[in-house]
Amino acid sequence: MAEPLRIALAGLGTVGGGVIRLIESNGTLIAGRAGRRLDIVAICARDRGKDRGVDLSRYAWEDDMTLLAGRADVDVVVELVGGADGPALALARRALTARKSLVTANKAMIAHHGMELAELAENAGVPLKFEAAVAGAVPVIKGLREGAAANAIARVYGILNGTCNYILSTMERSGRDFAEVLKEAQDLGYAEADPAFDIDGVDSAHKLAILAAIAFGGRIDFAAMEVSGIARIRAADIAQAAALGYVIRLIGLAESENDSLFQRVQPCLVPREHPLAAVEGATNAVVIEGDYSGRLLFQGAGAGDGPTASAVVADLIDIARGDTGLPFSVPVADLATLPAADSGCRRARSYLRFTVTDRPGVLAEITAAMRDAGVSIESLIQQGRPEEGGEVLVAMVTHEGPESRVAHALELLVGSDSLTEQPLVMPLLD
Ligand SMILES: NC(=O)c1ccc[n+]([C@@H]2O[C@H](COP(=O)([O-])OP(=O)(O)OC[C@H]3O[C@@H](n4cnc5c(N)ncnc54)[C@H](OP(=O)(O)O)[C@@H]3O)[C@@H](O)[C@H]2O)c1
Repeated sequence: MAEPLRIALAGLGTVGGGVIRLIESNGTLIAGRAGRRLDIVAICARDRGKDRGVDLSRYAWEDDMTLLAGRADVDVVVELVGGADGPALALARRALTARKSLVTANKAMIAHHGMELAELAENAGVPLKFEAAVAGAVPVIKGLREGAAANAIARVYGILNGTCNYILSTMERSGRDFAEVLKEAQDLGYAEADPAFDIDGVDSAHKLAILAAIAFGGRIDFAAMEVSGIARIRAADIAQAAALGYVIRLIGLAESENDSLFQRVQPCLVPREHPLAAVEGATNAVVIEGDYSGRLLFQGAGAGDGPTASAVVADLIDIARGDTGLPFSVPVADLATLPAADSGCRRARSYLRFTVTDRPGVLAEITAAMRDAGVSIESLIQQGRPEEGGEVLVAMVTHEGPESRVAHALELLVGSDSLTEQPLVMPLLD
């Protein structure tokens, strides 16, 4: 058997702890498949004294994690600290510059600095791998880079955040409102104490940006991403969607149109018969549409110590086997700079929800704005009974048309004292 692959591990939290347990418990099986042992030689975290439930005494400890990158007895640095910048980025740069392979689960860092890090890896001739950064255990990066490598990709989309999916599917099942379900998700450990990155869609956007770059051969352009989250969705929206035959899911979708790139994270109405509608709880699922493969569906646990460690160690096994494929499949210099698509030109059916004061003439005002903007209404539902505070919900679904027309209709209604809050717009996933 070849010499062991020598690993330095930065970060011993949820994922780092999982990686140690996985390598320790499945070491023999992994060595058989990789053709060599995976040996952790050095580790680092903030607090050396913390009880992590595993025996760390056999591993060398570094107080400063960037020193892991300089160790002569290390082949691969595994970064499981987190954060787009700061110490994680310093370690990543240092490791690649020192010609160490790098494995990370850090989607924020790859979404913001992936191009720079891929270039460093390319120049050093070492692998940079980040399977765990997108959808945890689900091998969707491998799916794109390997399984679907021969295909032109039409679009890639899916449920990329387990916290949001847990909240939405629980709201659906229980009929309860967002704030109440978020609180429960926090108590159960499905949502962070500060849930903003998840519920505002930013975490999904990080993952989508990475998938889009690989799928469409473009440079990551995180600033061009359109992002909205789930905090404004009410139990009433979920009930209306259900009455129309849909469920609501936070969907990240990227597609290439005429050499431009459309990337958006937004709650969407998903037809009940679509495979993504059946994805419940904290599960992630990604659909890749290839011109020869057809629709591929990848689904599984998107977070947690075991699932995320599974993806990290899969990357380590690839490196142990000698896989030196480029992080984004092609050299960074060959990645295109794809301009952002004009989302106003996209054609969609949309769900619109207005909260209005309960008085005559309001409905006529809304429908007049729709007519003046050229939006054709397919169905309109006005809830008979006023909600709390005397407001009434008016929901409608439009016929298919350019999204710019819906935006124009909403502009016409800006300043109307009939509306008690900004209207909510969600496209229907076709
Ligand atoms: N958790 C998941 O399910 C999941 C899923 C997919 C991807 N990820 C990604 O995986 C990465 C790690 O996530 P996690 O959930 O494992 O985080 P975590 O539980 O908060 O662990 C972070 C670790 O980094 C260490 N650390 C933080 N700052 C440090 C510093 N300046 N120097 C040395 N060590 C430092 C912490 O040390 P102490 O323990 O001593 O405080 C801790 O061990 C993140 O990029 C995250 O986005 C996580």
